[in-house]
This record gives sequence, C-alpha cells and structure tokens, in this order.
Amino acid sequence: MNMLNDDRYLTFALTKGRLAEKTLDLLEKVGISCDEMRDKNTRKLIFTNEELKVRFFLSKGPDVPTYVEYGTADIGVVGRDTIMEEGRRCFEVLDLGFGKCRMCVCGPESAREKLAHHEMIKVASKYPNIARDYFYNRKGQTVDIIKLNGSVELGPIVGLSDVIVDIVETGSTLKENGLVVLEEVCPLSARVIVNQVSMRMENERIRKLITGLREAL
Ligand code: PRP
Repeated sequence: MNMLNDDRYLTFALTKGRLAEKTLDLLEKVGISCDEMRDKNTRKLIFTNEELKVRFFLSKGPDVPTYVEYGTADIGVVGRDTIMEEGRRCFEVLDLGFGKCRMCVCGPESAREKLAHHEMIKVASKYPNIARDYFYNRKGQTVDIIKLNGSVELGPIVGLSDVIVDIVETGSTLKENGLVVLEEVCPLSARVIVNQVSMRMENERIRKLITGLREAL
C-alpha cells in the first residue's frame, strides 16, 4: 500500500523555506503542530504527527500544485504566482495574507514608451505563462517571451530583453539594478489550495480546518 495514500491522514504539501515556516506558525494556532519539522538541520522531506493523523511534506513551490492536483497531498500552501503559472486543477480556498508581493512588468524607464506603443518587445520571465496571459489576453499585445530561471533582472541590463515580468516585494532588487516598475500585473500572497476529490471526501475535516485558519489570521 502506498503510505501517502492512506486516507486516515490529512496530507499537506508545503513550500520549502520561509513560506513553510510561516504556515507552521499559523497551523500551530489551530492546534496542528509538527516539532520535528522545526529542526533547521533536518534533511527529511516527510513529517508525520501520528496523534493528529496529519502528514506534511516539503517540496519546491512549483511542485505543490502538482501534488495537490494528483491527490498525493490533500492541501497545499503556495504563492499565488505559482498557482497561476502552473495552472493545475485544484480549489483555491484561502488567502493567508502573508508572503505579500506584486507581479509586475519592470524594466528601465526607457521601456515605458515601447510598452505604451504596443511595440513587439522581448519579455524575460520565470513565469512565461503569467507573462503570456498578461500581454496576449489582458493587453492584446504580441510579445516575445523568453523563459529565465532566476535573477531575471539581468535580462534588460544585459540586453536579452526589453522588460521582465517578475515578483516585486521590497523593490530593492529593482532599485539596485536601475530598473523600475512599469505596470502591475496582480497582487500576490500565500494561498491554501485543496485537491478536488479531498474536498468532497474529507469535507468536514477540511472545512473545519479552513474555518479555524481564517479565524486565526
Ligand atoms: C525574487 C524576485 C526578485 C526579488 C524581489 O527573487 O524574482 O528578484 O525576489 O524582491 P525585492 O523586491 O524585495 O528585492 P528571488 O530572491 O526569489 O531569487 P531569483 O531571482 O533567483 O528568482
């Protein structure tokens, strides 16, 4: 038997790092804890609270919606940027309000004109689907999208692209690299997502949890 499919356990897929820590802080407020997961030195990826019949696993953000869509996790906590980019089938049930930032079109001030005149520009992004949706569907602008995997601010600086579509939190990365926000795509924050079948099968347990979390926020 696949132990991850043991339905007596409610399984959470959390985004490794700061988001998982903040999520644990919140879960503790509703009585769900996992001390073993707090150990900074552990390399373990799966944690179980036998008493509460709850299991957690830690994954990279973009994989969280995948685990939730396939039902290997009932519940996921991940940024809205990742949910939008991955486009997986799952229910988004709660905005946790932390991890707040914005998805923006950024670049040098000189790119503002090009954007305004709907020129055929090059857009570098770690989020090609979000960038495509924004330019093609919301703005009706044809652009050339170039996928990067990080340090996206380099794109316009080294001449790979005219602008970037990226996350802006404090704005200091942009500032230190001579770039500015040109347009806002959407606000972002951490969200709770739920597997569509789990929502029906574990309805009461999940509903109680979501209500508890909402009250604890
Ligand atoms: C993110 C994002 C920006 C930066 C924004 O990158 O892609 O580069 O943070 O934050 P700020 O507005 O507070 O400066 P991250 O640190 O996740 O690394 P990456 O560039 O490798 O994606």
